[in-house]
Amino acid sequence: MNRRKFIQTSCTACLSAAMVAGVVSSCKSTKYISGKLGADGLYLDSGEFRINSKGNDSFRPFIVVRNEALQYPICVYRVSDSEYHALWMQCTHQGAELQVSGNLLHCPAHGSEFSNKGRITNGPADKDLRSFPVTVMQDELFIDLRKV
Ligand code: FES
Repeated sequence: MNRRKFIQTSCTACLSAAMVAGVVSSCKSTKYISGKLGADGLYLDSGEFRINSKGNDSFRPFIVVRNEALQYPICVYRVSDSEYHALWMQCTHQGAELQVSGNLLHCPAHGSEFSNKGRITNGPADKDLRSFPVTVMQDELFIDLRKV
């Protein structure tokens, strides 16, 4: 192999590895936002779910809202343009903060799991997660927190 061929092959391999790493990390990353707190709840920009704003309709399945005014984060799942589920990330067993992984919320304390609609899929928790009504406005979502 001559020098030119070696450099060409090496660069192609490096670029490929970098692209694969970028794709994998973008799939795994969870987006955290704080939202805007109003008198009765939180306002989110629905564009936060968009992965690529260059005309490609690709959306994150969920976003985690962490706001310092709230004791626990809220996981907001996007089902469609008009349907979202907002779930309080506090385990109903003994109150540990849940972790989100795809369509499941998992409790690191004792292993309870909940679906993306807040339903128990695995104990020891015996109650579904607290959820909040989500109103879809033009480019914004309103999460009604009056029941917190
Ligand atoms: S606190 Fe979550 S399973 Fe016990």
